[in-house]
Amino acid sequence: MITVLPGFFLHCAELSPLCFILHTSRADRQTAMTQDALKQAVAQAALDFIKPHLERDTVLGIGTGSTANVFIDLLAGLRGDINITVASSESSAARLRQHGIQVGDLNAVGQVDFYIDGADETNSALQLIKGGGAALTREKIVAAVARTFICIADGSKLVHTLGQFPLPVEVIPMARSHVARELVKLGGDPVYREGVVTDNGNVILDVHNFSIPQPLAMEAKINNITGVVTNGLFALRPADILLLGTSNGVETLRAL
Ligand code: 5RP
Repeated sequence: MITVLPGFFLHCAELSPLCFILHTSRADRQTAMTQDALKQAVAQAALDFIKPHLERDTVLGIGTGSTANVFIDLLAGLRGDINITVASSESSAARLRQHGIQVGDLNAVGQVDFYIDGADETNSALQLIKGGGAALTREKIVAAVARTFICIADGSKLVHTLGQFPLPVEVIPMARSHVARELVKLGGDPVYREGVVTDNGNVILDVHNFSIPQPLAMEAKINNITGVVTNGLFALRPADILLLGTSNGVETLRAL
């Protein structure tokens, strides 16, 4: 039985000044510390999962974000056993290289055996919202190639219905207003993520107030809007394994 865990205010902190006050309270600092410990636990669990499978030709896909960063730092301890990685962002590639871990071009590696990445939200079908770090398009590409997609997240990310976290949509800059109007027609409130340019030179619209009971259909519908590069729904290609950090330890959920 999967239970929905509390802790949504960290996401909420990005949305309103009230939540920002909560974010800086003592109670929240304690929760943030707990979340750091949960990130550490799920990153370690991912490392333990892949370790027995590392061969001379294994290719690892590495995600983006604070949880992925914890994983990268742990991976450094195994650098001698790692053949090559591909990264879902320039920042993760730089972090991997700083640790002396080789980063290759996805077009040159042929296969990706495991892709390890965080998420902004997940449901119990392991369909995700990603893109809080603006890396959604490269994340989706690496996930598409990967044989096994391992998602690592703390328990606050598990929801019944996706959409409490604003859905990121990567957009070609000149199409921004057009895409925003189309997203309003779909029922959402798109907000331009000011000052953010993706690794691909595009912009991000975050769709607020957008409950997504049918992620598969919505992912396809948004991707069909002219000017959209991709959206942060990972339903057509969900995670295969979710390592979820909870107060009872790391739970392993598999896609059915
Ligand atoms: C980046 C992502 C991240 O996986 C997502 O934002 C989760 O990040 P964090 O581990 O910092 O909570 O999709 O584009």
